[in-house]
Amino acid sequence: MTDIRKLIDTAQEMVANDKGLLAMDESTPTCDKRFAKLGIPLTVEARRAWRELIVTTPGLGESISGAILFDETIRQQKRDGTPFVKALTDAGIIPGIKVDAGAKDMAGHPGEKITEGLDGLRGRLAEYVQLGARFAKWRAVIVVGDGIPSRAAIEANAHALARYAALCQEAGLVPVVEPEVLMDGDHTLERCGEVTEEVQRAVFSQLSTQGVMLEGMILKPNMVLPGLACPKQETEDAVAEATVRCLLRAVPAAVPGVAFLSGGQSPELASARLNAMNAGYKSRLPWALAFSFARAIQQPAMEIWRGDEAHVPAAQQALHHRAMCNRAARRGEYNAAMERSANG
Ligand code: 13P
Repeated sequence: MTDIRKLIDTAQEMVANDKGLLAMDESTPTCDKRFAKLGIPLTVEARRAWRELIVTTPGLGESISGAILFDETIRQQKRDGTPFVKALTDAGIIPGIKVDAGAKDMAGHPGEKITEGLDGLRGRLAEYVQLGARFAKWRAVIVVGDGIPSRAAIEANAHALARYAALCQEAGLVPVVEPEVLMDGDHTLERCGEVTEEVQRAVFSQLSTQGVMLEGMILKPNMVLPGLACPKQETEDAVAEATVRCLLRAVPAAVPGVAFLSGGQSPELASARLNAMNAGYKSRLPWALAFSFARAIQQPAMEIWRGDEAHVPAAQQALHHRAMCNRAARRGEYNAAMERSANG
């Protein structure tokens, strides 16, 4: 029988004390793509060494409540043989696991994606629980373009997210439900807001149909942003207002936390926008507004490391800095001076 109290406690712990999640669950092809840009070898050992750098960063648990691992990573160890899961747990960080099998082209819907991975999921979740995971993640990808997203793509992805979430709760894992509306394209902030709201409404409708307990889940959405190629970019306050409006309309108050993905924003912008939301609206919101960033926490550190052992301490300092900036953003206390003091 599922321990409902345990699910609720874990979900609350994931967004407690102004901390957030660190996504370090890049699939091997995605991790290799990021390594290739920096001339880092595309090997199992390089991926292991990078993840060891992350999980051994001194003080990371001060601002990171949970880390999302990839299948390869949850089975790996530090060079001294300590499993990553133990290293994280000892640092006060809850281990989580990405369980989707990736976004694939959707039949009959050119340009759109459907996330696979439901077949056999119950068995895989049971193994991840044995390996020490306490929460899981599934990412759905929604593309904005001419005439898309279609209702078909929205409903199929929402349905898969809800079935995944139900299986997670059955297994005692908190589902992180991630419907990502991509930043690619020249669409406006308003268009992103319309699409994001429609997607989130569809997701919560399916979560309800599948009987998912909202108190025992985390929503991981995109911020409402103009497309990367949109000529009109927006202020932090405009992004904060549009994002909060969308969430208030679509996300039930029973959900304990909303942890944003960064989606290709610069690390500084991701922190500044999260800060604007918390500074302007926190006291009026029913859920915590937190973060679950991958690139916006890892990228500066990876650029320092570049696969060189000698750069590990400096890279860890950069990682720690980004995590602390985002913790400050949860309190509405992030500012540009924090970046200057770190840079010199
Ligand atoms: P980004 O923060 O780099 O968008 O990654 C978050 C994530 O986990 C995507 O699934």
